[in-house]
Amino acid sequence: MKAVVDQDLCISCGACIDVCPEVFDWNDEEKAHAIVDEVPEGQEDQAREAADGCPTEAIKIS
Ligand code: F3S
Repeated sequence: MKAVVDQDLCISCGACIDVCPEVFDWNDEEKAHAIVDEVPEGQEDQAREAADGCPTEAIKIS
């Protein structure tokens, strides 16, 4: 599973980092990005929850 943050849509609310810090963190532009190529085993539900909870639907899971 992969998670990608659309940098144009992220408004830096931080919800994804609260929900799933194993996958999301801030980048130098103070937007969220995925810090792993693949979502680690056991983090899939949190990654989906982060995507569902993003207010701008910036997170795409594939
Ligand atoms: Fe940005 Fe959405 Fe996360 S706005 S900080 S990608 S919850």
